[in-house]
Amino acid sequence: MNIVLLGFPGAGKGTQAVKLEEKYGFKHISTGDLIRAEILSGTPLGKQVSALIEQGNLVPDSLITDILINAIKEEKKGVIFDGYPRTISQAEALNKYLAQHGQQTDAIVLIQLTEEEVLRRLTSRRICKSCGAIYNIYSKDYTGVCTKCGGELYTRPDDEIHSAQHRLEVFKKETEPLLSYYGSKENYVTVDGSKTEEEVFSSITAALGLIK
Ligand code: AP5
Ligand code: MG
Repeated sequence: MNIVLLGFPGAGKGTQAVKLEEKYGFKHISTGDLIRAEILSGTPLGKQVSALIEQGNLVPDSLITDILINAIKEEKKGVIFDGYPRTISQAEALNKYLAQHGQQTDAIVLIQLTEEEVLRRLTSRRICKSCGAIYNIYSKDYTGVCTKCGGELYTRPDDEIHSAQHRLEVFKKETEPLLSYYGSKENYVTVDGSKTEEEVFSSITAALGLIK
């Protein structure tokens, strides 16, 4: 099953994708994580896109599509797409690729949240440097270190308030048209992202159960 997760930056796509991967065994692919790994490794691609990411702008469609396809080409069971597609052109590229491999986008899930709340969550997010686990300083379980691997936590440069605000504007301009593109499809569902992580997860799995 191929699942596309949509939502504002900070809506909870990564948090829910990890849970979905654990439950269903579909591969979680975050294009943001793939790019950050390139930047961390200092590859030519990473150097090419690091300023774009830090400022909160999108990576060009053709480049990000190549990265995505390279990451999913071995996947037969299904993929949880986190952060891709972000433009109609990317959605069309994904449809084309899946159709060529006898697959399709089985479910599109929009996690809805207000701008005010996503900005609060982005500016209070922390990520583990070693394993990529996602935390929030306002969570009651927050300890300041990674509870999964003991790794050091850091703040993503694009979570700085001006960059985060810019990402919301980019989403409205570049990605919101996708909501109309997918909106009329039978396999498109929306969930309320303002609930607890577990409640949001239950809403998503309930919706997926209806689609399957
Ligand atoms: P990417 O890494 O995908 O960033 P994003 O879309 O901006 O989304 P985020 O990762 O910021 O948020 P999220 O929805 O995953 O939220 P999370 O679960 O972490 O992309 C980064 C950049 O890469 C882009 O700006 C662009 O430059 C480039 N890029 C990537 N894909 C691209 C593409 N397809 N095309 C072009 N460019 C691309 O949660 C956020 C916080 O909230 C955390 O602290 C978490 O603990 C907390 N939280 C989560 N759920 C809850 C809850 N239910 N209650 C309370 N707190 C919660
Ligand atoms: Mg994410």
